Amino acid sequence: MTTILLLSGPNLDQLGVRSPEIYGTETLDDHVERVRRAGEALGYEVLHRQSNFEGDLIEVIHEAAETSAIVINAGALTHTSWALADALASYPGVVIEVHLSNPAAREPFRHTSTLAAVVDGTIAGFRGLSYDLALEAAHRLLTANGR
Ligand code: DQA
Repeated sequence: MTTILLLSGPNLDQLGVRSPEIYGTETLDDHVERVRRAGEALGYEVLHRQSNFEGDLIEVIHEAAETSAIVINAGALTHTSWALADALASYPGVVIEVHLSNPAAREPFRHTSTLAAVVDGTIAGFRGLSYDLALEAAHRLLTANGR
């Protein structure tokens, strides 16, 4: 079965209570379950990992070589982590960057993504729907690549 890894960075475990006016009221588990069900309907196994630690996320990426795609919300590491970008650059599959909010419309420090150059594309600003659209984008690219 084709596997998609959903990867969540720092503070995303706080969704539901963290700035609901920006990120919505759904929890990370809500998003993961929705993506898992949608993925299954498309024939994918969806795995999820969350960590508040940069090194943990990098190791998960290193160990994900057998998966076909990564959908990553790296949280604030999006704006700072060249190490995460390097890890993703070595990953052979499809990579979709996803954000609940639209970082480009927020504080200046959120306007830069260190990941942008190494991902296939970015979906941002649709709150929970961003995850559904990111899964759809991964599916379309995998299908175009013959999976
Ligand atoms: C986020 C946007 C980041 O700027 C922020 O640090 C997050 C969440 C989003 O999903 O909108 O933690 O990635």
